[in-house]
Amino acid sequence: MAPSKIHSNIIFSQQVGSELEKIVQRFPAGKVFLLTEETPERLCLPLIGPLIQDYGILCKSISGGEPNKSIRSVEQVWEFLSKNGADRNSLLINIGGGLLTDLGGFVASTFKRGMAFVNIPTTLLAQVDASLGGKTGINFNGLKNEIGVFNEPDTVIINTNFLKTIDHANFLSGYAEMLKHGLIKNPAHWEELLAYDLENVNYELLADIIAHSVAVKDWHVQNDLTEKNIRKALNFGHTVGHAFESYALHAGRPIQHGFAVVYGMIVELFLSAKACGFDQAKLNEINQWLIQTYGKFEIEPSAYDELYELMTHDKKNEGSRINFTLISAIGQVEINQDCSKELIIEALDAYRQL
Ligand code: GLY
Repeated sequence: MAPSKIHSNIIFSQQVGSELEKIVQRFPAGKVFLLTEETPERLCLPLIGPLIQDYGILCKSISGGEPNKSIRSVEQVWEFLSKNGADRNSLLINIGGGLLTDLGGFVASTFKRGMAFVNIPTTLLAQVDASLGGKTGINFNGLKNEIGVFNEPDTVIINTNFLKTIDHANFLSGYAEMLKHGLIKNPAHWEELLAYDLENVNYELLADIIAHSVAVKDWHVQNDLTEKNIRKALNFGHTVGHAFESYALHAGRPIQHGFAVVYGMIVELFLSAKACGFDQAKLNEINQWLIQTYGKFEIEPSAYDELYELMTHDKKNEGSRINFTLISAIGQVEINQDCSKELIIEALDAYRQL
C-alpha cells in the first residue's frame, strides 16, 4: 500500500517512557522541559513519571481550548523556560492535542532562536495530522494559526493507547483527516477506512490504519515542507472547511475541525466533479457515506455570501484568487485550482440539498 515509508523521526510505540528516555539522554542534564495541558497531564504523566523524576524534567501546564492558543500562553511558557535556564541546547517535550503541539512547537522554535522539541500527540487529529510536519503556531487577532513557523520536531512518538480515552466526536474529527489522506493519495487507504467499524473500535487494527495515514501525510511533508507545491494537496476540503468552521463559530453553532473538513470535502467534491471531471456516481456514493457518518451542518442560501467571503480570506490563497485543491479521481490530486463564485455557490447549493 503506497506510500508506506515513514520518516525516521516518527516512532510508533506503546512504550513512551523508554522511547523518550533515549531522546532525553541526548540532552544536557537540567535542560529538558515538558509542556502539557490539564487532561493529557492527568492521563499521560503517570506513564513517564519515573523519567521526570530521574532526569529532573521541569513541567509546565497551560490551559487548553482555542482561546488559549494565544501569545499570552506563549509568553507564559517563554517565561517558564527563561526562569529555569533553558537554552539552545535544551529540549521541550510537548504532550497533548494539536493545539498544544502547535503552540509548544512555536515556543520551542522561537525561544533563543530555537531549541529542539518532541511531540507526543494524544488525540487522533494530532497523531495523524497536527503534530506531524512542522507547522507550528498560534492564533492572532481572531485568525487561526496566523502567527507561526515551519519547523520540524526532533521526534514524534505516536502511542495509539492514548486514543482509548478520547470521545467519539473527537475520534471522528481525527478520522476526517485520515479520510482526506485516502482521497488525495491512496485508494487502498480510503477503502480500509470505509471498511473499518467505527462503532466497535479495534485498536490493534487502528494502529495499522493510522500508520498508513501518517505515511501519506509524511510523504507530502518530506516532498514539500514549506507548502510551495505538492503539500497543498493536504488542503483538500480545507478551503471550504475553514469557512464552515468560522461561520459555525460566528453563528453560535461551533463544529469540530474534522467535521468542518468533511463538509468542506463534500462541497469540494462537487467542485472536483465540475472542474476536474471527478466521477459523478462515485461522488454520490462518497457524499452519502460522509453524511451518514458525520451528519450535516445545515446552511441556508443566506449563508452563501458570508461563506464565500470567508473563503476569500483563506491564508492559502494566492493574490486575490481562492486557491482550491481538488481531485480528479480518488488518489489523483489537482492543486492550484481556480473556481468562479457561481460554481462555488452551485456546489454549496448541491451540499444544502443533500
Ligand atoms: N494540515 C495540513 C498540513 O500540515 O499541511
